[in-house]
Amino acid sequence: MTPEAETIAIDLGDDRASTCTATDSELTSLRSSVLDYVYENGRRYHAYHAGAYWGSNDEKAIDAMEICHFSYGLLFHGELHLAPLQNPKRVLDVGTGTGAWAIEFADMHPTATVIGTDLSPIQPRMVPPNLSFEVDDCCDEWMYRAPFDYIHVRGLYGCVADWDGFYQQALKHLVPGGYIEQVEMGVVPTSDDGSHIGTVYEKWGRASLESGDRFGKTFRIVDESKQRIINAGFVDVVERRYKLPIGPWPKNKHLKTLGKYFRLVIEESMEMWVMYLWTKVLGVSAVTSPFYQQILIYSSGRESKLK
Ligand SMILES: C[S@@+](CC[C@H](N)C(=O)[O-])C[C@H]1O[C@@H](n2cnc3c(N)ncnc32)[C@H](O)[C@@H]1O
Repeated sequence: MTPEAETIAIDLGDDRASTCTATDSELTSLRSSVLDYVYENGRRYHAYHAGAYWGSNDEKAIDAMEICHFSYGLLFHGELHLAPLQNPKRVLDVGTGTGAWAIEFADMHPTATVIGTDLSPIQPRMVPPNLSFEVDDCCDEWMYRAPFDYIHVRGLYGCVADWDGFYQQALKHLVPGGYIEQVEMGVVPTSDDGSHIGTVYEKWGRASLESGDRFGKTFRIVDESKQRIINAGFVDVVERRYKLPIGPWPKNKHLKTLGKYFRLVIEESMEMWVMYLWTKVLGVSAVTSPFYQQILIYSSGRESKLK
């Protein structure tokens, strides 16, 4: 865990090498239409409210989400939540993705009823008995029958058009004294020493911000969530910021391992971001744009990058 203000020391190779090597719930049965996935540019996308989300739901995307979940585990030293929960009875994981977080949480809290929602029914069938998954759009009106003690939100950048409405719904669906916890990342990579400036990653991040603005679902939520959560009427709002290295460059062993895994996440997901938002929203051609081609080369691992 590295406080944001602390500069991360770079591993200059004068230390021992790291040992790490890189490389039934409210709703019921699944309607078949949610499995009528949309195929485009070699990627598979969700069918329910098709076009609502820019990310694909194919194997490559699932792999990236799983590695990202693992990276969050490293970042938070194994903690699934930072909110001071005490025997939560009902828990909601909004935009659950592969359901990895919800599965672990349900396992650790067998007396809690856990619901994970997503546009894509990509979660495993064999799950803890106290967990269920539902296909749902969190931008619609929430229809849950009973309030939650805890609402978990992670990685919903670029997924919600009206964050104020989202937080208001969350507050309405929490018991008094309940918690909402949100984990988000900035999408423009930065650095302690300015070495990110002018790199393809910085350009990629800035283009991603612009594409989210044009798509109508912001990628800036990491910087806006605290104030918006307060505006919705939540009290005792705490924000913690962390540095998440990309690549094994940190000297610190923990951060080095984290960086290796997170680099993998970036490499696995970069093409996915570019594919939908840039081609559809920014109008960048996959064939003619040199920048687009550069991104694809970087994300394919064919170049030495993200050292
Ligand atoms: C970046 S992934 C994060 C997944 C998961 N929360 C995690 O941290 O592993 C974003 C997820 O949000 C889902 N999503 C996007 N827009 C959504 C919406 N409007 N309603 C419900 N889920 C949504 C996507 O299908 C995807 O699985």
